[in-house]
Amino acid sequence: MLEAIAPLHPRFVHFPIALSLAGVLFLALGLFRRRERFTGYGQWSLLLGWLGTLAAVVTGLIDQASAPQEATVTAIIDRHITAGITLLIASGLALYWPLRNKKLWTTSARWGYLALLVAIVVLVLAEGWLGGKLVYEYGVGVR
Ligand code: HEM
Repeated sequence: MLEAIAPLHPRFVHFPIALSLAGVLFLALGLFRRRERFTGYGQWSLLLGWLGTLAAVVTGLIDQASAPQEATVTAIIDRHITAGITLLIASGLALYWPLRNKKLWTTSARWGYLALLVAIVVLVLAEGWLGGKLVYEYGVGVR
């Protein structure tokens, strides 16, 4: 039955990319502008991005079962999985940290938090780039 809607994964990947990046942008604005409204938007957006990343991970794992068993493709999928799982952990930490430390926005810990936000952006970009490589260079999911 899943074949009817395969590949499943590309239908889910745009949400986490857009929502996570929007979340980081608003959280960074919240950090420097000290506006709670921005922080709130950022946390909601990142939460939805985290849920979207989870859906992308699950659908990606389903789709990779039908990817060609070539060494180059497998190596890229492995890196794509590592970046995807790391993104899930990093976004989870970015959601949890402000709940644990209510003074995060006003102490020097915010620089650590900013570094975490930068890491999330890098991971999202790497994830999209590796995914695009799989599809447009190796035809995974389309050939
Ligand atoms: C961690 C588990 C993941 C696996 C096993 C996986 C696997 C795959 C596979 C096999 C493809 C090729 C297309 C297909 O057959 O569906 C692909 C493409 C792609 N993946 Fe993932 N993926 C994972 C996570 C993610 C996450 C978390 C994101 C985004 C946040 C993402 C973004 C993309 C993008 C942008 C493409 C290219 C889609 C297109 O251009 O149509 N992947 N992935």
